[in-house]
Amino acid sequence: MREPWVVGVSGASGTPYAAAVIRGLLDAGEAVDLVVSRAARLTIMDETGRPFRDGHWERDLTDWLGRDLSGADVRHWAAGDLAAGPSSGSYPVRGMAVVPASTAACAGIAIGLSKDLLQRAAEVNLKERRRVVVVPRETPVTRSHLEHLIALHDAGAVVLPASPGFYGAGAAASGAQLVDFVAGKVLDALGVGHDLFRRWSGDLGAGHRSR
Ligand SMILES: Cc1cc2nc3c(=O)[nH]c(=O)nc-3n(C[C@H](O)[C@H](O)[C@H](O)COP(=O)(O)O)c2cc1C
Repeated sequence: MREPWVVGVSGASGTPYAAAVIRGLLDAGEAVDLVVSRAARLTIMDETGRPFRDGHWERDLTDWLGRDLSGADVRHWAAGDLAAGPSSGSYPVRGMAVVPASTAACAGIAIGLSKDLLQRAAEVNLKERRRVVVVPRETPVTRSHLEHLIALHDAGAVVLPASPGFYGAGAAASGAQLVDFVAGKVLDALGVGHDLFRRWSGDLGAGHRSR
C-alpha cells in the first residue's frame, strides 16, 4: 500500500526549506503528496522567480526542485480540493510536514479552521496521531503566534522553527548548508534517513578543522 508523506507548503518565506525536504524524502525513496497553498505560489514566485501552477505542477515542481521527477513517487493535490485524499483520515499517509509554516497556517491548524486542504490535512494527521512537523517562519512573533505553537505542540505536532544551527558547517556555512540543516532536522523528526548535515560528534571545533 502506498503511504506517502504529505508535504504542505504554506505562504511563509523559506520555500528552499520545502524544496530540500521534498528532495530529501524522494532521495530516501519515500512517496510524497504535495499541497501548495495559494499564498505559497507568491513566495515560490518571489524566492525562485518561477510559477507553481496546479495545471502544470509536474513541470513547475521539476524546475523548482532542479531535478528530473521520473521514477519519483510524487502526487499533487490542489489546495482548494477539500475532497482530496489527504482530507480524510482513511486515506493512508505516514504523516505530514508543513514547511515553511506561515503564522496564518499555524493559527488555522491550531484552531482547526481547515480553510484549505493544507490546514485540513494537518488537522487530519493530528487527529489520527500521526507524525506532524510544523516549521514556523516568522520573527519576531506575537503572543498569539506563540500560543498557536503551544497548541500545536500540545496536539502532538513537532514544532521545528526554521532556525539553522551553524555547528558542523561553521561560521562560513553557505545558505544551502543552512537550508539543509533545517531540512535534515525535519527528516529526523519524521524518522526518515538522510545525509543533509554533519551530526554533532562531541568533538568541539571538528567542523572548522575539517574544512
Ligand atoms: C513574499 C511573501 C512573504 C511572506 N513571508 C511570510 C513569512 O515569512 N511568515 C509568515 O507567517 N507569513 C508570510 N507572508 C504572509 C502569508 O503569505 C499570508 O499570511 C498568507 O495568508 C498565508 O496563507 P497560507 O497559510 O494559506 O499559505 C508572506 C507573504 C508574501 C507575499
